[in-house]
Amino acid sequence: MTQAPEVIFDEDIVAKAENLIARYPQSRSALLPMLHLVQSVQGYVSQEGISFCATQLGLSDAEVSAVATFYTMYKRRPCGEHLVSVCTNTLCAAMGGDAIYKKLQTHLGSEEKPLGHNETAGEPNTPGSITLEHAECLAACDLAPVIQVNYEYFDNQTEDKAVALVDALQAGKKPQPTRGAPLTDFKGAELQLAGFFPDDPVQYRADIDGPSQAVETLRGAQVAQERGWTAPVMDDVPLPEVEKK
Ligand code: FES
Repeated sequence: MTQAPEVIFDEDIVAKAENLIARYPQSRSALLPMLHLVQSVQGYVSQEGISFCATQLGLSDAEVSAVATFYTMYKRRPCGEHLVSVCTNTLCAAMGGDAIYKKLQTHLGSEEKPLGHNETAGEPNTPGSITLEHAECLAACDLAPVIQVNYEYFDNQTEDKAVALVDALQAGKKPQPTRGAPLTDFKGAELQLAGFFPDDPVQYRADIDGPSQAVETLRGAQVAQERGWTAPVMDDVPLPEVEKK
């Protein structure tokens, strides 16, 4: 007797896809959250995930692939329980981000075989596994060098702090990010990015009540307020006419 093929995207995911599609006037507009949704199931956007999105949205596989391969947040290989992104853009790099990334490459891999960009230490989708990536500016330059775990911020990092962070993740701990929601895991973060939040009201409040701003970020605004500085008023200038295509 042949076994029925395993259902990857079950009734719950189909219902969530329909929920997403209903949020937009045109179904194809739901593609970005749909890709996060399939990533929350498998930990990456697989070929099955692409076909699922295409079928639900009335698009071709090629149209979905074109989007999935454009954005770095959509992973084409299975990710670990956690995604660790080290900012190696200019400011973070100069403040130690490059050194942190190199340190984690050898710490999570070895001196002989450092872990590469988007490679995973441990078996993807198993507890304690970590996918490492170097990232472009993570929009927290005033707190450089920064690392994100599942897109939550760990500010003002050093090599030692970064090693302690990944050691804790591998040991099954979930250190509190400097700002933002408490850590879940990569798949959990993807479900939230798709637009689905915890049903448990306590967990929901914990996610949205976490500190969202840093003292460093507000310092400029505070100095301006103390000194009575304001931005110059700009006249409203109408946009130039653009030739219709
Ligand atoms: S350069 Fe790293 S957050 Fe901007």
